[in-house]
Amino acid sequence: MGGGAVGRLWWGAWLYVGAVVAAAVLVIALGPFGPVHWAQVAALGLLLVVSESTATVLQTRSLAWSATSISSLAAVVLTGPVGGALVACCTLLGVRRGPSLAQRLFNTGMYALSAYLAGRAYLLLGGHVGTPQPSSFPGIIGPFAGAGLVHVLVNFALLRGVLWLTKEPGSGGRVGLDFKLLVTDLGYGAFGLLTASLWQVLGPFAPVLVLIPLLVARWAVGQFAEQQRAYEATVSALCQAVETKDFYTRGHSERVSRGSVMIAGEIGMRAERVEAIRFAGMLHDVGKLGVPTSVLQKSGSLTDDEYAAIQLHPMRGLDIVREIGFLDEALAGIMHHHERIDGRGYPMGLAGDEIPEFARVLAVADAFDAMTSTRSYRGARPVLEAVAELRKWAGRQFDPAFVDAFVAAIERDGWTTPQAASAGADDPLTAPADGPGTVLADEGALAPAAEGAPEDPAGPLRPIESL
Ligand SMILES: [Fe+2]
Repeated sequence: MGGGAVGRLWWGAWLYVGAVVAAAVLVIALGPFGPVHWAQVAALGLLLVVSESTATVLQTRSLAWSATSISSLAAVVLTGPVGGALVACCTLLGVRRGPSLAQRLFNTGMYALSAYLAGRAYLLLGGHVGTPQPSSFPGIIGPFAGAGLVHVLVNFALLRGVLWLTKEPGSGGRVGLDFKLLVTDLGYGAFGLLTASLWQVLGPFAPVLVLIPLLVARWAVGQFAEQQRAYEATVSALCQAVETKDFYTRGHSERVSRGSVMIAGEIGMRAERVEAIRFAGMLHDVGKLGVPTSVLQKSGSLTDDEYAAIQLHPMRGLDIVREIGFLDEALAGIMHHHERIDGRGYPMGLAGDEIPEFARVLAVADAFDAMTSTRSYRGARPVLEAVAELRKWAGRQFDPAFVDAFVAAIERDGWTTPQAASAGADDPLTAPADGPGTVLADEGALAPAAEGAPEDPAGPLRPIESL
């Protein structure tokens, strides 16, 4: 249990690591060696080496999580604080790529100190060292819970220190050390008491029996995480391909994805579907890969043939990603994101509820981002104006419920246009493009939409702002 640091160190951090390791050595050297049972230390040390060797690397790549506290807390109960610290020292023997010698030393010192202090807390709270008997329960639970808490807190405090000193980009000394991890650590710690209690019956086989289901569970979770990373990479690669081809839409997919998730959250879509619509937003224009680059990057008006080529992109998109199983409902969104509520969209001319929900959500986010970002044929329009346009075309081009949801979400959370993002402004509602101190309130007071808005329903079937 507990996070292990994997970052690079400078001299200040070296001092810190040195102090942690020295403190660990000191407590072990000064500790009472009398009641330590070496067979138990060896068996639990082996369990710890296996746990450490199968550590899970967290998202930030600067932290790893392993179930090592099961062994050291079991050792605390069976052989006392120094026994716990000695078992924790086996961290150094963990077989795992990643941590350098300095990092291993730090992790070892950190776990040893955590275990030692947990052991002191256990004794202080009235816990007895030795194999727990049936009569030890429930009295042992309180001291053991206290020990588990101290272990987690010392582990996190020391780790936070090293993260603060190394300040890896992206970690900021905070990432990965969240409340959920702390609770998970505490939960895993309970296996320590289980291991210690089973010792009476199973002896050194107790750790093995505890370890097997844990390793299976860890393996399964690891597979899932690996799969998620593969999904992300697939979607990002496709997204990148589209944006390389059509550089005017850089970041567009990301923003449509964000907008769609905002709408989905606002209407209370369940988590799996929100995840699916996030992918749909990223990939909605993947079909542009099948549209000639000269047409995508053309700055003048398009001929009918060129429009026709562009109008093929939803179908082409479907062809490209159809076989990607995990996209599932996102496929319908990709294929129909240019349909209109009044049936004048493409490629199928579906109307109203015939249009898949994902597509209706995407249409709103897509048009909004297209309006508020610079395109080859025109400049960006202000957020307020774009909102007015959405409202104006609600019921004809857009689903009014999703326009309302989107506007409500923007009013609450704001929206960062690409221009505001590059100017470093966080809140688009106060960005210069919208005028000072503008708020999304009175639609009637808004400037009228630009003349000849491409959304004009009287015109021929053509792409609406967004291509
Ligand atoms: Fe599109």
